[in-house]
Amino acid sequence: MKTTSINSRRRNSSAAPPNLTDRDLVHELRQRLIGQQAAIDAIVPYVTMFQAGLSPEGRPAGVFLLLGPSGTGKTRTVEALAEVLHGSEKSVLKIDCGEYQMDHEVAKLIGAPPGYLGHRETQPLLTQFRLSSVASEQSPLSIVLFDEVEKAAPSLNRLLLGVLDKGQLRLGDNTSVTFENSIIFMTSNLGAAAMMKELGAGFGFKREGILDADRSRKLTAIADNAVRKSFTPEFINRLDATVTYEPLSREALDQILDLQIARLDTHIHNRLGLRAFNIDIRPEAREYLLERGVSTSFGARELKRTIHRQVLQPLANFILAGRIRPGSHVRIALSEAGDSLSFTQRLYDPAA
Ligand SMILES: Nc1ncnc2c1ncn2[C@@H]1O[C@H](COP(=O)(O)OP(=O)(O)OP(=O)(O)O)[C@@H](O)[C@H]1O
Ligand SMILES: [Mg+2]
Repeated sequence: MKTTSINSRRRNSSAAPPNLTDRDLVHELRQRLIGQQAAIDAIVPYVTMFQAGLSPEGRPAGVFLLLGPSGTGKTRTVEALAEVLHGSEKSVLKIDCGEYQMDHEVAKLIGAPPGYLGHRETQPLLTQFRLSSVASEQSPLSIVLFDEVEKAAPSLNRLLLGVLDKGQLRLGDNTSVTFENSIIFMTSNLGAAAMMKELGAGFGFKREGILDADRSRKLTAIADNAVRKSFTPEFINRLDATVTYEPLSREALDQILDLQIARLDTHIHNRLGLRAFNIDIRPEAREYLLERGVSTSFGARELKRTIHRQVLQPLANFILAGRIRPGSHVRIALSEAGDSLSFTQRLYDPAA
């Protein structure tokens, strides 16, 4: 009997679907999301199942609650998946639940019923059209994010329950939206304050690196407890997975900084084209950026802004002053006083 390896058949066929295998997905996500393996492990099987056409009928392809301290990559996870599946981190239908804290505000999402005041003016935000507009030719899977879900009004919670359960949402005008081709993420800071207390002041810049298993279990228990206090059992039962994000280790922060520096470099080259130059950030300058960009309260949230303020803005001023030559190497080091960054330019010498 002749057998063909499924793997090799898919890879060698010119008509291979653009779908990514679970290994490809894990690899691509790990390039973008650092140190939160539990999140990747939880999400990838559901995407693979959807791509294979094996997701359950009548419900979203996956429903995840992402918990944990601020700035540890919850939102970044969703953006990274969008980048991998659709080529853009913006391909996400995001609902800021903080904007729907009062029951009457929920009409903004689903539109007011006919005959109600403001029916014509309220165009629903959660339509089938908007849902499909965040899918792409590469993948029909729409990514939906309910951010800060603990802030949602009770009526939004009821609405969510229907979506999670039946994969359907009935709009004010009585039409319905199906979420079968959607993967739903909810993020929350529930339990985050208690987690920070458990972690003590050292969080965010942990030099010893990896969190020990005992602490990790404690954090998960804190998160589970907070979830049980705030959400009904029906809601919890409809989740495919709850993921507790861990504080970022020193190693993870280093890698995040690398990612952001690489992004800055791409940005300079994309925007300036032939006028572009290269940057070389010295180790002490990296340390300086990490110290300012990482904190107990905001994780790596401020890192991007710090790089913007401390590196990109000074570079912009040098460009405007005509002090950076195209093709040169700009070396970014710590100033002698140690309280700012210094920029020096080395001209590129093709003969060197
Ligand atoms: N694990 C990570 N991998 C890569 N980048 C990260 C990670 N964690 C944080 N970052 C960086 O920090 C920024 C803020 O992270 P993110 O928005 O994901 O935080 P969050 O966990 O959603 O926090 P919050 O609870 O405050 O919304 C990201 O845009 C990204 O640049
Ligand atoms: Mg977030």
